[in-house]
This record gives sequence, structure tokens and C-alpha cells, in this order.
Amino acid sequence: MNLPPRAPTFDPFRVKTVEPIALTTAAQRRMALEYAQFNLFHIPADQVMIDLITDSGTGAMSSRQWAGMMRGDESYAGSASFHHLTNTIAEITGLNHVLPTHQGRVSERLLVEAIIGTPHAGNGKIVPNNAHFDTTRFMIEASGAEAFNFLGEGGDDPESDAPFKGDMHLADLEDLLQRRGKDVPFVMLTITCNSNGGQPVSLANMKQVRTLCDKYKKKLFLDACRFAENAWFIKQREQGQANRSIAEIVRDMFDLCDGTVMSARKDALANCGGMLIVRDEALFKKVCSLCVLTQGFQMTYGSLAARDLEAIAVGMTEALDENYLAARRDSIDRLAGALVGGGVKLVQPIGGHAVWIDAHAFCPNLPKEVSACHAVACALYEHGGIRGTCIGSVLKDPRHGESLDLLRLAVPRRAYTQSHLDYVAAVVCDLKRHASMIKPPKVTVSRTRLTLEPDLQPVA
Ligand code: F0G
Repeated sequence: MNLPPRAPTFDPFRVKTVEPIALTTAAQRRMALEYAQFNLFHIPADQVMIDLITDSGTGAMSSRQWAGMMRGDESYAGSASFHHLTNTIAEITGLNHVLPTHQGRVSERLLVEAIIGTPHAGNGKIVPNNAHFDTTRFMIEASGAEAFNFLGEGGDDPESDAPFKGDMHLADLEDLLQRRGKDVPFVMLTITCNSNGGQPVSLANMKQVRTLCDKYKKKLFLDACRFAENAWFIKQREQGQANRSIAEIVRDMFDLCDGTVMSARKDALANCGGMLIVRDEALFKKVCSLCVLTQGFQMTYGSLAARDLEAIAVGMTEALDENYLAARRDSIDRLAGALVGGGVKLVQPIGGHAVWIDAHAFCPNLPKEVSACHAVACALYEHGGIRGTCIGSVLKDPRHGESLDLLRLAVPRRAYTQSHLDYVAAVVCDLKRHASMIKPPKVTVSRTRLTLEPDLQPVA
């Protein structure tokens, strides 16, 4: 046969271990909701059928990662696992100083504390970013500094289909650096940008931000927990990048920065962990001396077990696999396509790790003062056992410029198959057809006991 080659459109892995999902009825889920007082974070996970609350720490590890965990060298000093991680990071990013942390937010705290200082030291200072994730904003504001968002043209418009809506607004950044340069301790870029719908930053924009940082002598740090998904978008959408490998693009991205704060719970495909990776040795020594006080011995484990360092090292490499990224992209696109086909309004273009549903458009009958997102999230759980989350957003309703009420359905990596996502699409579309029946949840019972015994009645 002489057929043209076809790129695989299936997940490039097969399943070795399965985790059963308990099937529940709508009546059981209604009861769970009432016991949880309609707070979806209080629903026990074994009563959720498809959990799309986050893509953070919820992915499936590979057999290579599990094997690496068994190899973890838990020596206090000179651990081979630490060297495996630092060598892998140096190879992928070109950055040599790696401090493992227990989550992304710890890396953010250490960076802010090392450069800005302790509470109040940041008074009068400003840290610009395309859009700060909540934890980064919190760390910066806790120091007394202000966290500014400078999204580029269309970045806060949920309907714009611009390819790189995570790009930084260069003129606004330069204006800040010109007027208040001495008050800017460093510049950040979040790739992909979670707060506006998992939108990517182009390589061209990153280079221009770097040029501005050089001109005004500022360090540039990436919040790079979804670095591989960002590189995938660059390869697909940016001129001149289509024939380059993900690894090459990733290397270009990191070559432009002075360091990165990274949660390992996303693209690094681990269930816990984070990293603070920097170029400058003096800064590294400073973050290490802060780490050793409250986290752990920085020279060999930071604040993680060595087995977790192995899982991260292997995960970082697996994230660069183009077939994996393509299949992940395809499955999220198929979910989005089915939702749009069912009349569900989504933030455009579809983000890297999730779909964002415009909850007010989903339920136009709900009054504006009601959280449509919470109402739809509870209805979705009751109707189909699917858990999403209302997530803070910098996106604005184009009609009146107010913040959008968005329900995020985040897709864990390698955990769900297409049949799960097809089920999600069918349930959401069915709910959309009956959206006029969705009512704002009323808290009527106290949360005393939580079980799904069929005959259990809510206890007041
Ligand atoms: N930066 C970004 C862009 C994030 O999305 C997150 C976490 C963090 C930093 C913090 O990392 O959780 O390891 O401390 N995002 C999760 C989410 C919580 O659901 O989007 P962490």
C-alpha cells in the first residue's frame, strides 16, 4: 500500500492500571450537594464521576515515572535523584540552578521574598505580568507591592479569536518601566496565561518583553507551569515555527528569561511539587538560604522526597512529546466543538488546559446579581456528576466591561479518555437545553454527615 502518512489522532499510551469510578444517581448527588452546602470543594471526590475541577496534580503518571519513583535516592546529601532532576532541567531549559519546592506557590513566595523582601518591603513597588495567577498576585501583594496585569490587545476579550491572547501589552509595559522603572523589581510572564483562559504567549512577544527588560535592566521571570502547552501553540500558530521541535521552542522560551517559578503539578506531569529555577548564582544562594529555614535542605531535595524529584524529571521530558501534546489538544478541541455545537458559549480560542463556559450566557434567565457560574456548576454536578470550578478571571463582558462569570472545566493530563469527555459534552449540552430550569442553589441544611446511602435523608 502506498498511502500518505497520517499523524496519530489517538492518545499515544495505553492503560496499565485503572481506577474505578463509582456511578451515582442524580438523587444521591442532590443529597451530596445539600450536605456540602452547595460548595463543590466539600463534595468527597469518590462522589464525583468526572472531576474537572483542576488540571493541577490530577494527571496520570507514566510507567517510567512510577519506575523512577522506585529508583528515588533518598540520601540526605548527594542524592542521585537531585542530580537527575538538575541535569534534566539544564538540558531542557539551559538553566542551571534548580530549587525543588513543594508547589508552585512556594517558588513564588521564595522569589518575592528574595527580591522584594518581607511584608511591607514592597510598599510602592509594582510587578507587571501579562496576568498574574491568584497565588502570584497574593505573594506580591503580601509583600506590599502591587501586581499589575498588562494583557495585550484582545487579551481580556472572551470573543476575540486572536492566536496569542496571552501576549504582554508592550506599550503599557514600556510606559510603566519609563515612568516608574525604579519601582519595578522584576517583570513576569505567565505561559500559558491561566487567568484569561489558558491563552498562549508568542515567542515574538516574549522576545520583545526581553528587549524591554534589557533596555530598563530588569530581570524577567516566567510562570511556566504550562510551558509545553505554550510551546505547542507556538508551533501551531506562530509564523516560522511549524517545522521546529517542541524541545527547540521550549529552549528558546527559557533562553529569554532570568528564571522561572513552576508548579510541577501541570505540564511536568507530577502529582506534587514545584521548582524555582534561576540563572543568577547570587540570587540562587539567596533563595536557598530562605528555603533551608522553612522548607528543607536546598542542596539535595528542597522540600520534596527524592522519588518526587524522579517523577518530575521524567515528566518534564515526557511533556515534550509532540504526539502526547497533539492528542491532548485534539481531545480538548473535540470537547469544545461538541459544546459549541450544543449552543454553549465558550471563551475563544479554546485554552490549553480547559474550556471556559460563559455561565451567564448559559443561563440567561438568572438575574445578574446571582452567581450563574455557581448555579451551573452545581446543576452540572447534580445532572451528570461532573465537577468544574468557578475561577477568577480577568476577562470582560464585551457588552458592559464587567468581569465575566466563568465555569472552568479543566482536563487532567492522561487521566480521562475520549469516552469520558464525550459524556461531559453530552451532559453539558443536555443541561443547556434545560437551562431555564437551573435555579440559584439555596443552602437549606447543615453539613453534619456526608454519605451516599440511598435511604439517607438530609439531617437539619
Ligand atoms: N501559576 C499558575 C499559572 C497556576 O495555574 C497555578 C495553579 C500556580 C501558579 C500555583 O501552582 O498550585 O502548584 O501552587 N493553578 C491551579 C489551577 C491551582 O487549578 O489552575 P501550585
